[in-house]
Amino acid sequence: MPYSDAIKSAYKVLEEAQLTYHNRPVGYVASNDPNAPAANYAECFVRDFIPPAIICLLDGEYDIVKNFLQAVLILRDKQEAMEGHRQLPKVMPASFKVTIDDNGKEHMEADFGDRAIGRVAPVDSMMWWIILLHIYVKVTGDDDFSKSTSCQNATRMIMNICLRDRFEVFPTLLVPDGSFMIDRRMGVFGHPLEIQALFYAALKAAQSILINEEAENHPVIEQSNKRLELLTDYVRDYYWMDLSRLNEIHRYETELFGHEVINKLNIYPDSIPDWTSEWIPDDAGYLVGNLGPGKMDFRFYSQGNLLSVIFGLADDNQSEKIMRLFEQRWDDLIGTMPVKILYPALQGLEWHLLTGSDPKNVRWSYHNGGSWPVLLWPFVTACVKLGKIDLAKKAFDTAAFRLERDVWPEYYDGKSGKLIGRKANYNQTWSAAALILADKLIENPEMVNIFQFDD
Ligand code: GLC
Repeated sequence: MPYSDAIKSAYKVLEEAQLTYHNRPVGYVASNDPNAPAANYAECFVRDFIPPAIICLLDGEYDIVKNFLQAVLILRDKQEAMEGHRQLPKVMPASFKVTIDDNGKEHMEADFGDRAIGRVAPVDSMMWWIILLHIYVKVTGDDDFSKSTSCQNATRMIMNICLRDRFEVFPTLLVPDGSFMIDRRMGVFGHPLEIQALFYAALKAAQSILINEEAENHPVIEQSNKRLELLTDYVRDYYWMDLSRLNEIHRYETELFGHEVINKLNIYPDSIPDWTSEWIPDDAGYLVGNLGPGKMDFRFYSQGNLLSVIFGLADDNQSEKIMRLFEQRWDDLIGTMPVKILYPALQGLEWHLLTGSDPKNVRWSYHNGGSWPVLLWPFVTACVKLGKIDLAKKAFDTAAFRLERDVWPEYYDGKSGKLIGRKANYNQTWSAAALILADKLIENPEMVNIFQFDD
């Protein structure tokens, strides 16, 4: 294997990041870098665990994934209601750590967002938990586990949180700023695409996990079916952006009433950013980053689009066009390090207002247009799903040697990703895991089926 040294070194990063509890592996810490800028990088994050978990499943190391899924459930049950909040069905933690007390006894401690910088709610954790459980069962066949009372209860509870009535009129899910991979203030509150793609996959996963014969599950299954249909139609239609849609919005009439109007969300043509008409290619398109009343975030978010392709929230034609966008805007979206988290970066007054003047999120850095090696795995997975192996290889080749040489940074800075991120950790677990997973999928494209749902 031509890249065997880089892959070997990536596996070493994983090995050294393994977290154990009572001598059993339960996850991986986010980064092993002793100089990491935030203390919680030494914890196991639910979202960061996904790429290494999938590697473990493909390598036949099932225990760690099962231990992790169970650990998160136990931690969720220990959660207490926040002061002044009525106890709601419990959410999943963002991360957890193992501590040792004075008597040498180990304890697991979860963070539900209250230890994170800026205090953010990890809405994506519960979705990833269900999706991972679904993939775990698909690979191992261990449906005794998913049929256990604790997994059935947890799945039902997660669905109940997502499906409950709230101050909303849309089928998409309303969330606060920073509730997913972009977990700092970045103007991503409302209905960000990444959460909608995860919501879609979580609904699908729940349908396969929940036991049909159990009466308790019936209302949840019924509601999730309806929601899935509405969510799919809504995102495919209202979030879709290409030149013909842009033309439509450019000439939108506004301030219209009634069910039949075209500009239902009252988007003002003047809100179209200058970069869009030149940047969107003739025969490509994408799902916009966020959508709400009078608000369309035209930015391109890689993870939301790639997950939509992988899980099928985008239809076949849209998926093809999204991947074509990557091909045609390669320098902007892949550059010298796959993959740019979003395009374009916020600058000047917009940066000042939307990030709250966050120095970590200055233009073309970190969440504001930085390049994230972890995104190589969803990129390669989406390519493989669409049979674009050459494109997957091209991105893989761009990343492989450089990542190892640079000691597996968390992210890169600069318009094309030429600089190691100013505050990036080294030995970032999911950066290493992404390369291993990408390699596996390129070598064995049929593995992509583990991400598919059976109808
Ligand atoms: C940062 C990232 C987040 C990640 C965490 C641990 O907070 O924004 O996506 O989960 O680090 O790596």
